[in-house]
Amino acid sequence: MLNSLQKKWKVNGAQLVLILCTFAVTGTLTAFISRGITSWLGFDETTSLIWKILVRILVLVFGYQVIILIVSFFFGQFRFFWNYEKKILKRMGFINNTKEVVTPYRLAIFASGKGSNAEKIIQYFDKEPLIHVKLIVCNKAGAGVLDIANAWKINTLLIEKKAFTESDEYIEYLKNEGITHIILAGFLWKIPQNLIKAYPNKILNIHPALLPNFGGKGMYGEKVHQSVIAAGEKESGITIHLVDEHYDHGKTIFQVKTEITSADSPDTLAEKIHILEHEHYPKVIEEWLGVE
Ligand code: GAR
Repeated sequence: MLNSLQKKWKVNGAQLVLILCTFAVTGTLTAFISRGITSWLGFDETTSLIWKILVRILVLVFGYQVIILIVSFFFGQFRFFWNYEKKILKRMGFINNTKEVVTPYRLAIFASGKGSNAEKIIQYFDKEPLIHVKLIVCNKAGAGVLDIANAWKINTLLIEKKAFTESDEYIEYLKNEGITHIILAGFLWKIPQNLIKAYPNKILNIHPALLPNFGGKGMYGEKVHQSVIAAGEKESGITIHLVDEHYDHGKTIFQVKTEITSADSPDTLAEKIHILEHEHYPKVIEEWLGVE
């Protein structure tokens, strides 16, 4: 039961506990407030049952929604409950539903290596009706991400450097495939100008450090973690940003930090960073696309 809730809401175990606490505290608080309101209104045993029920319904339908947002803030779950409220308001017709009828977002993931991030993104959107991972673009024959694409029956495009930097052919292919957005997940080549022009503000990258530090040419994967440890940093993290014509440079969409202890090595730091990436990248993509 808890596992299925976790899957349904796409949250980790700790977040699930905080969400359930939010519901529990909100329920108790709403009952308490509702009792306070009825006594403030002077309701007693002589008051008509209809009035009592009406006030309770009003508190439950409207007050509950406000109270849950306030309580969720204290449990650090405001974002989750705000999205939950938006869904309810949409269903009730208070905010318009235009986002729900747009053509599905068709993603191409560009990756060069193992592809653990690519796999988390594919998994996360597997049952999502509006967002589909349609293509894996890779620049390295034999890369793990190609096996992942095969296992999930997703088309792949293996691309060579010359074709990538000097031609538009593959861009036409992306357009023909209806690709709407590009997600870089450990892709190690700089994105050429023509691709940025073809997908303006529609290319997202993840970097395994807190940009603007430890980014730029040659800074990828374990090299980043080695540099962070060598510099004696006390914290590192992940940065998710839009891609522009410079390495690791476009507008930052999201950052989260992790502590570095004296026991950490580049390898243990890499593990911590991967955990953060897997947890956040799919959710940030979903929010960036405006589909929640
Ligand atoms: C990830 O840690 C990603 O942040 C990094 O490559 C790794 C790919 O891992 N990207 C960069 O360093 C880009 N500058 P994965 O193949 O297991 O997803």
